[in-house]
Amino acid sequence: MLVNAKEMLDKAKAGHYAVGHFNINNLEWTKAILETAQELNSPVILGVSEGAGKYMTGFKTVAAMVKAMIEEMNITVPVALHLDHGSYDGCYKCIEAGFSSIMFDGSSLPIEENLAKTKELVEKAHSLGMSIEAEVGAIGGEEDGVVGMGECADPEECAKIASLGIDFLAAGIGNIHGVYPDNWAGLQFDVLDKIDKAVPGMPLVLHGGTGIPADQIKKAIELGVSKINVNTECQIAFAKGTREYIEAGKDQQGKGFDPRKLLAPGTAAIKATVKEKMELFGSVGKA
Ligand code: 13P
Repeated sequence: MLVNAKEMLDKAKAGHYAVGHFNINNLEWTKAILETAQELNSPVILGVSEGAGKYMTGFKTVAAMVKAMIEEMNITVPVALHLDHGSYDGCYKCIEAGFSSIMFDGSSLPIEENLAKTKELVEKAHSLGMSIEAEVGAIGGEEDGVVGMGECADPEECAKIASLGIDFLAAGIGNIHGVYPDNWAGLQFDVLDKIDKAVPGMPLVLHGGTGIPADQIKKAIELGVSKINVNTECQIAFAKGTREYIEAGKDQQGKGFDPRKLLAPGTAAIKATVKEKMELFGSVGKA
């Protein structure tokens, strides 16, 4: 069932667990994540970056595919289709394409411009029954060519943007997109605690979910994180599963080159990764 992400995240905040946001890149990714969510009776958020949207030929293709897959696969758990790190124009494209949720990432803009654009998009999204995530303070690492330094958000800015009526908030707490460097300092729980107190009841979003140790994930959830974004870990799992299949020469045995066979181990590896994350985040059985 395609829904916006507000209710599932409000429930997660109240119930002290987090809903996984898993980025999708193609049909196999989407199918693997939807199947796992249904098997585990878990709510789920399908994240689409602007780059991935372009790769899949556009947001309309993505929305049509996701809606059709939910129907054809009899997916009854709540599924949100969410734009990840959207630009102002990207948000309007996803609104038009029929997404159920958007993220406007104005974190690289001057705060006044971020607030003004977020306010406009909150009104637009809510008038159409969509949920909206906003961001203040850069999050480190690289995604689709955007580079940040693992900064932490300012709780006062968090309070200002939250007052605009956004549904959930991405605020940097030392998290980074991609694989964490060996010298990573870890999540800044003192900052998270201050942010959570500055925006009471607001579901907080932890980007850069790949590779964060389980104890830090659990502590972040305890302190108010209700949505955790994972992308790189599924990509690594998919690549590993595919590589092992080819290195074992299986693509050259019988009809092992058939894409349905060739892509199966990678797809199974994504399913295993998503399952592990849903169990860690505590969303299993919460649909
Ligand atoms: P990772 O690629 O580090 O898992 O981060 C995903 C993310 O935050 C998407 O917005």
